[in-house]
Amino acid sequence: MRGTTLLADAVATSVDEHARFGGVVPEVASRAHVERMTAVVSEALLEAGCAVGDLGGVAATVGPGLIGALLVGVQTAKAIAWSRRLPFFPVNHIHGHLAAAWLAAPEARFPMVTLVASGGHTVLIRVDDRATFRLLGQTLDDAAGEAFDKGARLLGLGYPGGRELDELAGRGDPRAFSFPIGLKRSQRPDFSFSGVKTALYYLLRDMSPEERTARAADVAASYREAIVEALVGKAVRTARREKVRTLAVAGGVAANSLLRRRLAEAGSAAGLHVVVPPFSYCTDNAAMIGAAALAGPRLDYPQYLDLDASASLALGQWIPADFATASSVVRSTEI
Ligand code: KG4
Ligand code: ZN
Repeated sequence: MRGTTLLADAVATSVDEHARFGGVVPEVASRAHVERMTAVVSEALLEAGCAVGDLGGVAATVGPGLIGALLVGVQTAKAIAWSRRLPFFPVNHIHGHLAAAWLAAPEARFPMVTLVASGGHTVLIRVDDRATFRLLGQTLDDAAGEAFDKGARLLGLGYPGGRELDELAGRGDPRAFSFPIGLKRSQRPDFSFSGVKTALYYLLRDMSPEERTARAADVAASYREAIVEALVGKAVRTARREKVRTLAVAGGVAANSLLRRRLAEAGSAAGLHVVVPPFSYCTDNAAMIGAAALAGPRLDYPQYLDLDASASLALGQWIPADFATASSVVRSTEI
């Protein structure tokens, strides 16, 4: 495979619109995608100093996720590819998060275990090479990002709130309160965050408004501690059990300052090479999708014209199962 050089990485976000509703409203998300798509594509081209005519192909996330938002991205990418008869590269969103590891650390050795923790996912994945993945464990209820966001909401920190809770926690005492660490004694590489969230609800319910304000930082610090302990404990144990030498983390929650520090400390103590990508590769971004695309299939014109997005795409799947021409797909690495 050819080397990867990132020329531009433009991001448009609709977080402000969602904050008004305290969560993602699918219709609002799709409309925000439509409104911003042209501008963000132009921005990336400008930053890279190139025009559509210079492109050799176009990649886009085809799933899993909110179907309305996915469709906007897929149709835009297909339209650009169609206009120049360029190949199209379909990418699974989770494969994108995994690619953040080799985008950030090209020297990182395979096989690796990667923890992907975002607003919708908390999974541990064995990555044998850039295109071979195996799901080892996952959350049985809420995602870690959801636990942070719900915690932030209970603490009155706004939406999505993970970053705000992280900042507040930095000023508090993590030993002030004891929160349950989900599945701590279980050997399985799975997570559970519903208990910690419920414990936070009852703790705050039983406090006076004054106490809630005075102890907010301590509560946030103790809550963050329990979530991070669960993530780090399972990730390191799973990497050791899988006998890999590299442990990586990705997804929006990988922006958490305590998680970044603890994973690096605990991983190194266990003899692992720990890859903690920069913030911009952790939260959703196009750079990781481009990096993942290079290891996936390539659809030449006009093969991709019928391709649709899919809300549910399993790990290891690059193209929706019902896509008719999938059998004649070429691997990008064979180009
Ligand atoms: O990967 P991402 O950008 O989008 C999804 O695919 O979900 O992840 C977003 C999640 C949100 O739940 C957000 O609150 C969380 O990542 N997040 C954080 C931090 N920064 C973002 N959670 C904890 N600490 C942070 N510093
Ligand atoms: Zn994501």
